[in-house]
Amino acid sequence: MNPGDFAGKWNQRHQDAEGQGSAAQVLLRNRHLLPRAGKALDLACGRGANAMLLARSGLETHAWDFSSVAIARLDEEAAKNDLRIETQVRDVVAQPPAANSFDLILVSYFLERSIIPALIQALRPKGLLFYQTFVRAVHLERGPSTDAWRLESNELLRLFGDLQVHYYREDGSISAEPTDVADLAMIVASKGV
Ligand SMILES: C[S@@+](CC[C@H](N)C(=O)[O-])C[C@H]1O[C@@H](n2cnc3c(N)ncnc32)[C@H](O)[C@@H]1O
Repeated sequence: MNPGDFAGKWNQRHQDAEGQGSAAQVLLRNRHLLPRAGKALDLACGRGANAMLLARSGLETHAWDFSSVAIARLDEEAAKNDLRIETQVRDVVAQPPAANSFDLILVSYFLERSIIPALIQALRPKGLLFYQTFVRAVHLERGPSTDAWRLESNELLRLFGDLQVHYYREDGSISAEPTDVADLAMIVASKGV
């Protein structure tokens, strides 16, 4: 699939979806780790529930996605809520963030391994990374059908092993009951402390 078709598919999904989506558990469970100020990026933000939470927390918030529909819906919601969010329609694989540009980067439900080194580079000293996405061990029928877009066990720890880890949780199919964090891995890590 060429990049244009892929963005078109996401435009359709964002057109059909209701609301802004839900903020990521990695953020909801670790709000106490957010800095009081600084420049934050919600990467591949979709309709921007996480960006809205970051902006409400007082951070200078940027939100990027290659879906123009998602970004238009986020702009509209941010305006309604009197929140300032700097949005961009941007292919984050072709154009990842520049080195040393953010105090916080949040990624939820987006996995493109080729840009992980750029994300690490994009963090400023002491900058925080919040990352959450699906693992391969499956409890619930949700998330990507392709294994390549799901994490291997402990993979976030390997991908961000050079950072200081503050929080890690991985719920595969180990628990007896599926929960709201079933099939997810989450990490909060910083570039030094
Ligand atoms: C599963 S959604 C997650 C959205 C949001 N982060 C959330 O948690 O609700 C994946 C998002 O990645 C975006 N996306 C996929 N490939 C992209 C790329 N190369 N550049 C920018 N955004 C991309 C899609 O448009 C979609 O909004």
